[in-house]
Amino acid sequence: MRVESGCDITSPEAVSKLASNLKGSTIDVLINNAGILKRNTLENLDFDSIRQQFEVNALGPLRVT
Ligand SMILES: NC(=O)c1ccc[n+]([C@@H]2O[C@H](COP(=O)([O-])OP(=O)(O)OC[C@H]3O[C@@H](n4cnc5c(N)ncnc54)[C@H](OP(=O)(O)O)[C@@H]3O)[C@@H](O)[C@H]2O)c1
Repeated sequence: MRVESGCDITSPEAVSKLASNLKGSTIDVLINNAGILKRNTLENLDFDSIRQQFEVNALGPLRVT
């Protein structure tokens, strides 16, 4: 098993660098485990926080995959 850490999955540059580091490697299973949860309520919406959660939880795994 190989663990890749220190890559900010919201950063296209960081993910490109990760791809370069892995070039030539065969990946059988990818565990995309990064995730964050910030609690927001309808009465107290923090759009920056929500945007960050979409970046990390939704777009980040797509970018890494
Ligand atoms: N714990 C639970 O019981 C539970 C239950 C249901 C769902 N969840 C969900 O599962 C996810 C993870 O929960 P957890 O308890 O394991 O949280 P955690 O201990 O805070 O771990 C989150 C992991 O995501 C990484 N991460 C966060 N932002 C990142 C980014 N931009 N780029 C790369 N890596 C990033 C962190 O890396 P660093 O350490 O390097 O920051 C850390 O390894 C969350 O979305 C949470 O809502 C958790």
